[in-house]
Amino acid sequence: MEFSEQLASDAAATAALIDDILRTEQSSAQRLREAMLHATMSGGKRLRAALVLGAARLSRKGSHQLGALRVAAALEMLHAYSLVHDDLPSMDNAATRRGEPSCHLAFDEATAILAGDALQTMAFGVLADARTHSDPAVQIRLVAALASASGLAGMAGGQMLDLQAETRQLDLAGVTEMQSMKTGALIQCAAICGGIVGSADDRLLEALRAFSRDLGLAFQIADDLLDYDGDAAALGKPTGQDAHRGKGSLVVIMGAGQARATAHRLIEDALAVLAPWPQAGYLGYLATFAIARKS
Ligand code: IPE
Ligand code: IPE
Ligand code: MG
Ligand code: MG
Ligand code: MG
Repeated sequence: MEFSEQLASDAAATAALIDDILRTEQSSAQRLREAMLHATMSGGKRLRAALVLGAARLSRKGSHQLGALRVAAALEMLHAYSLVHDDLPSMDNAATRRGEPSCHLAFDEATAILAGDALQTMAFGVLADARTHSDPAVQIRLVAALASASGLAGMAGGQMLDLQAETRQLDLAGVTEMQSMKTGALIQCAAICGGIVGSADDRLLEALRAFSRDLGLAFQIADDLLDYDGDAAALGKPTGQDAHRGKGSLVVIMGAGQARATAHRLIEDALAVLAPWPQAGYLGYLATFAIARKS
């Protein structure tokens, strides 16, 4: 299978599992279920899912595909929650996401907040389940990894720094820290959790950590470049918002050309980390895709 077909196949399998999990959970709160489906099922690249599955395949020692797929679904749920809250009027106030009205416009603000909340807790529930891994110690490692990537030291902390950067100019170190927290942490968590569920040895886990640190940073630089000069229709979300809101980014600090060169350098470094693993072609493809994408 071509790597692009593998990505499409991983994305479809992850989406089908998320759909199944959301539709089979017993609850009479149908409006909340609909909002969670809107947030998770409108497309998206599923890069975090693909990183989980790619890392798990590279690691796998007799572990099963369903476990890795459940981890992929959990990462995408957590990510979808972060997007729903990121788009809220009190945060980026964005009207579209994945080519659809943002969750708070398709529903309402309170429902969007609840949909984010419930997607977040559902992600942890999916990890802490025997169908994800039979060993409770592995379940706890996955839960702990996602918790630290999502909270004060990870995504939520990074989002705080991002909002503060609208009124406070960050230097290179400040932007790098903010981006590695708000976006890098979850991308890194995806690769590491793929390794954990696939029983990777310590050497491979370290390589996955280094690979995905660079990848996560490059991914957010690419996102900022797409906001700067991308096509809103292809992206399915507004462009020009970062400049409008005065967001801190490498594009602001060093200009688009230098920011692009930095993203390329980071991906070269990421690819070099995986050089000792000849079967890591798919992860390499994902890294290249992260900065070559138009959406
Ligand atoms: C967008 O993430 C938000 C960032 C962290 C930059 P993606 O570009 O991965 O969004 P989807 O999942 O493909 O819609
Ligand atoms: C979002 O960064 C990072 C998250 C944790 C959601 P952005 O605010 O740049 O993401 P987009 O451009 O709205 O997707
Ligand atoms: Mg934002
Ligand atoms: Mg945003
Ligand atoms: Mg952006």
